[in-house]
Amino acid sequence: MKIKTRFTEMFGIEHPIVQGGMMWVGRAELAAAVSNAGGLGILTALTQPTPDDLKREIDRCRAMTDKPFGVNLTILPSVNPPPYAEYRKAIIDSGITIVETAGHKPQEHVDDFKAHGVKVVHKCTAVRHALSAERMGVDAISIDGFECAGHPGEDDIPGLILIPAAADKVKIPMIASGGFGDGRGLVAALALGAEGINMGTRFCATAEAPIHDKVKQFIVDNDERGTNLIFRKFHNTGRVAKNSVSDKVVEISAREGAVFTDIQPYVSGAKGRVALETGDVDAGLVWAGQVQGLIRDIPTCAVLIERIMSEANEIIQTRLGRMVSQ
Ligand SMILES: Cc1cc2nc3c(=O)[nH]c(=O)nc-3n(C[C@H](O)[C@H](O)[C@H](O)COP(=O)(O)O)c2cc1C
Repeated sequence: MKIKTRFTEMFGIEHPIVQGGMMWVGRAELAAAVSNAGGLGILTALTQPTPDDLKREIDRCRAMTDKPFGVNLTILPSVNPPPYAEYRKAIIDSGITIVETAGHKPQEHVDDFKAHGVKVVHKCTAVRHALSAERMGVDAISIDGFECAGHPGEDDIPGLILIPAAADKVKIPMIASGGFGDGRGLVAALALGAEGINMGTRFCATAEAPIHDKVKQFIVDNDERGTNLIFRKFHNTGRVAKNSVSDKVVEISAREGAVFTDIQPYVSGAKGRVALETGDVDAGLVWAGQVQGLIRDIPTCAVLIERIMSEANEIIQTRLGRMVSQ
């Protein structure tokens, strides 16, 4: 079964399912597997140590798929920011035609991508940010609800409200993100006004995700309560898997007068990478969302996407169809 939406048409993909950018996880193996399965796979630019490494990763992904795939560029406030303009140039010079932007003030990036014919999906967590990205000229929006792994923003609006609230105002194609993992979620997203879904955590628990099997099993074993919200106090909220490190960060942050440097030793990206690569799930922060409660196996991306599509079909054609009468 196929579900055709403005999003699938715009990006030339078979199924309305996107794999969001994921630090340390969004490598060629995963992005190519998602794209080969008819979804939209996305490489994560900053996972590559330099812009030249990103170019090589793009070449590696091209060798694994002839289907469309994109690159995520996450713009986070930082004292020592990575060379964003150079990563952007590497993306453009490599002939990439789809980019997912996320984070703060993407205007200069959007302008340059658009000037070079690159289509931009901007991921954001509030209706007002979606509207500002639309005004900036992006081609599509990925709206990320409070359930999501990563940075859900500070408004705490779950997808059930955020998606239709955004759909009422955003005119360009919009996909729903945060908490999606199966066909029920896809149908719900479509019903709420989105034209596809974006998934992060669900794709971490797939055969092709380039992380340790113990982390995949940790996600499977966790339920919907298995996350912590960190960095709340510092207005940069992150949703991560509950483990000894994120528990500690929550505990320290709750202390009166706590400042960021008190938690800094626990939260480095390098430690999170060790957790993902060695399978020691208490080595650092492991980013994962509430959808862990719906993840019960570690399929290939092809099996997962096929299952989501056939489940969605069954719900639309049979379950919902049977409920309706004149
Ligand atoms: C391990 C991991 C790393 C992530 N890293 C990034 C990132 O670097 N940039 C970004 O825009 N989003 C990042 N995200 C967020 C995802 O792209 C996506 O928006 C989110 O996972 C959706 O929520 P879900 O996990 O409930 O599907 C990450 C998510 C995970 C699980």
